[in-house]
Amino acid sequence: MISSIIDGFKKASTTIKITIDILRYIFSLERLSVTAIFFLCTLEATLPFLSLWLAKYIVDVLTMPEQATDPNTFLNFLIGFVGIGILAQVCATFGQTLREGVGQKIESHSEVSLLKKVNSFSEITIFENPEFYNHLRNATEGSGRRFVGVIEIMISATRSLLMLGGSVAILGGVHWSLGVIVLVGMLPHSLVTFWINGFKAQVFRAQAHDTREQRYYASVLTSQETAKEVRAFHLGSFFLDKYQEAFSRVYDRSQRFRQRALKVGIVSGGLSGAVSAGVFSWIALQAYNGFLTVGDAVLYIGLLPQAMRTLSLVLGQLASFQLVSLHVKHFFDFLKLELPHNVNEIAENFQSKDTSTGYEFRNVSFKYPGADRPAIENVSFTIEPGEKVAVVGRNGAGKSTLVKLMLRLYQPDAGVILLDGIPLKEYASEDLRKKTSVVFQDFAKFYLTIRDNIALGDLSKDQKDWIESAAQKAQVDDFANELPQGYDTLLGKHFDGGVELSGGQWQRISLARAFARDADLIVLDEPSSALDPIAESHLYERFRDLTNDKSALFITHRLGSVRLADKIIVLNDGKIVGIGSHNELMAAEGDYAVLFRTQAENYADGIFE
Ligand SMILES: Nc1ncnc2c1ncn2[C@@H]1O[C@H](COP(=O)(O)OP(=O)(O)O)[C@@H](O)[C@H]1O
Ligand SMILES: [Mg+2]
Repeated sequence: MISSIIDGFKKASTTIKITIDILRYIFSLERLSVTAIFFLCTLEATLPFLSLWLAKYIVDVLTMPEQATDPNTFLNFLIGFVGIGILAQVCATFGQTLREGVGQKIESHSEVSLLKKVNSFSEITIFENPEFYNHLRNATEGSGRRFVGVIEIMISATRSLLMLGGSVAILGGVHWSLGVIVLVGMLPHSLVTFWINGFKAQVFRAQAHDTREQRYYASVLTSQETAKEVRAFHLGSFFLDKYQEAFSRVYDRSQRFRQRALKVGIVSGGLSGAVSAGVFSWIALQAYNGFLTVGDAVLYIGLLPQAMRTLSLVLGQLASFQLVSLHVKHFFDFLKLELPHNVNEIAENFQSKDTSTGYEFRNVSFKYPGADRPAIENVSFTIEPGEKVAVVGRNGAGKSTLVKLMLRLYQPDAGVILLDGIPLKEYASEDLRKKTSVVFQDFAKFYLTIRDNIALGDLSKDQKDWIESAAQKAQVDDFANELPQGYDTLLGKHFDGGVELSGGQWQRISLARAFARDADLIVLDEPSSALDPIAESHLYERFRDLTNDKSALFITHRLGSVRLADKIIVLNDGKIVGIGSHNELMAAEGDYAVLFRTQAENYADGIFE
């Protein structure tokens, strides 16, 4: 009992904190409009009282002709009544329009706040940490439309509270017991509404897994990524059945809840009906016996449903506010989130050097969050300015991880990575990103035009000829010029009129993007994986020219191309097991020599083209 009271208080104080956060946030964004909205909302709550009060006077005049009233006064009452009626409608319409407009703005403001925050994390660890990712998803749910929904509940709860306070105060003015009876009589039904809303939230949470499953199956049947397998393996009815099963579970749970709510609702609803009818009769009786004028009776009877309805409305709104405001809490918590690792975006004292001395890995070790063994272990090497370095090794050896560390998408757990003699973590992100260009193994496809896709490589440059020259280096011009709209062709099937490319063509686009950037170092992580052998050999033949005086690091499985490198790093299980030129490594008779001979034999046997 006590613990549930404490729990209730805790919940209430959280709700109050969130309310304050929300108010602060929306006032900081749209001070004037939000003030206007709350003003209109107060007006909307007050006008019904005024019109009921005027109605009372009008009825009194009509029912008591013996008390002569000045016809002008009577006319004024009527004019006032009509005026209030018009004003109420105008206020409602005006308020609605204002709320929609402000709502739309706040919807996007809150999303932008969230997106900016996500973008401020310069590492990608956050996307691979399930805890963070959940946090992000919850925060996303609490931003945008949901956020506006919460504000709407706040406004209508304010209105209901004002109306409730007003009606109870006036009824209590007739006789104090009337105010009490109305409040107490309505309480059971209101509490039931409150309880039902709270319980609904629990059911909703319990449903989350099944609903997600349902949505997942639906997406399998409707998304482009799965469309091929679903048809080739004839999986349609399998996923439809899965969908139906998940839906049945959701429906059964909701139905059980509805039945329980129905039973309690009938009892409490009946009770509130009885109270309402009882108070009505009492007022009528008072008027009949001459203790109240007919006008008073009209006023009180008019207030009665208002008082009754608003109490359960207020409690219902509070319950849903408490529920949905939790999502908004995630949103605010997320905005306040500081990651221990997140490097300073503006490294204040940092001065990047004019003279380039290249990259250095010094005893670097790194373990992915949650992994049980390191992906990179005690790795040391250098990339001199202008040097072309190849990294080879089996799948899972740690090659891509090396790239991610080099770009500071992760921070090493031990050791240090230096660029021009300065530890990476001291660089401002922007400075650091300027110095490197990369094609990731799992590169991104942007659903933009070819031109824009390449321009992303360096947004600071004026877009002109350099886009096409980067395109030529990456052999994008071969296919771009054949498309009807050339470089202005929209890529991907995401938007109308988009053209889908092959994996290799997409990779060439991302290669062009990397060439577009005038960086000191260019990193290619298995660019050949999606390129055909001819495109690949072209790429490597021209690689020295393409990268000219820049440093380059490339990862490939095709050892024929590796020979062109100044230095080869052989990785195995996260450790360097060989480092040197092709000739040196062959002479050392280590892993590299074995790998190389196996591939050479396979080529000779015609296994590889
Ligand atoms: N995001 C990740 N989270 C956890 N482990 C990862 C992640 N990416 C890679 N790994 C693991 O780290 C090791 C090295 O992976 P990676 O660098 O991608 O290898 P390579 O590029 O040489 O094939 C592998 O054991 C892999 O399973
Ligand atoms: Mg890899």
